[in-house]
Amino acid sequence: MPVRVYSGANCLLQHPEVFAAAGKKALIVCGRNSAKRCGVFADIEKILKETGQDFVAFDRVEPNPSIETVYEGAAFARSEGADFIVAAGGGSPMDAAKAIAVLACASIPREALFQGNYVKALPMIHIPTTAGTGSELTPYAILTDDRIETKMTMSGPVMFPKAAFLDGKYMAQLPYRTTVHTAVDALSHAAEGMLSNKSSRFSDALAKQSLQMITAQFPALEIGRFDAAARQSLLEASALAGMVISQTGTTVVHTMGYSFTYFLGTDHGRANGLTLGQFLALGEAQCPARIREILSCLGMTKAAELTVFLRKLLQPDERLSEAQVRKFTEITMKRGAKKLSDCMIRVSETDIMNLYAGYRQEGVK
Ligand SMILES: [Fe+2]
Repeated sequence: MPVRVYSGANCLLQHPEVFAAAGKKALIVCGRNSAKRCGVFADIEKILKETGQDFVAFDRVEPNPSIETVYEGAAFARSEGADFIVAAGGGSPMDAAKAIAVLACASIPREALFQGNYVKALPMIHIPTTAGTGSELTPYAILTDDRIETKMTMSGPVMFPKAAFLDGKYMAQLPYRTTVHTAVDALSHAAEGMLSNKSSRFSDALAKQSLQMITAQFPALEIGRFDAAARQSLLEASALAGMVISQTGTTVVHTMGYSFTYFLGTDHGRANGLTLGQFLALGEAQCPARIREILSCLGMTKAAELTVFLRKLLQPDERLSEAQVRKFTEITMKRGAKKLSDCMIRVSETDIMNLYAGYRQEGVK
């Protein structure tokens, strides 16, 4: 874990030296509004003025960033002569920033974008303003690829940020549904990490701590009231889960979720929550001890309890046609092959189809 992590109230403003050491001119990567609304943009500006560093903003990152956006951001970084990146926002700006950091250093054709072996990236400082993605602590950039109608992952050691600042104050005004969906993403990362064949004692320790911290916030998530301590705890739990998946990767739950997001516009974390409980239930017969270990961190004994809890929390209204169930299954089997083989739970094409079929609308072809 090569990312230096700073955590707690006002940690950003207390460490201008991290910015000063990063380069001469910053490219601030963020979405159109959120970074300004939550106050993080003003804090970054304040620091960069204090250190005397030049900066320019690329504030055009859309939710679920496209490949076009990151190429555009990289061209902008080059034309402006930016030599480091400050990413502020949820998973979308943070992921886009990593791709921009790589593309600003090398001309990679679109066909080779996801092949890895990236040699260099601009140094990055990440500041999450949602608590779920953990992107500030992973070497992944998840981008939407319209040509294959799903998301793809860029990944490589050079894509780890240099530093991450975790301050829950930027989440004080985060809408309820975003808070819930992102918390479910973090929960999903920790649980999925424990189901990976790449999990270890180290990743398990982080995953369990993360799950317990999120579980402690279940009452707050249900009633929708979050004080500063709850925000900070969810943010740190998300960061811990990010450390987990940077070692283990996610599972096919994430691949399945990409189709919900691409075709129905479902929020990313919510999309994972639609099948996570049912996925764990598949593991109850195959690796019962492991599933018990995960559930015990959640204060549960059966995977069905998690399904019930997530249904209550997310109130799913997603409905799929028969054709969508078939199409989503096909995309998942094609794109999720590696995740399927890396997972302790062996799932078949029929299992995937059955998980999607849970959202099938009767009589709609
Ligand atoms: Fe995720």
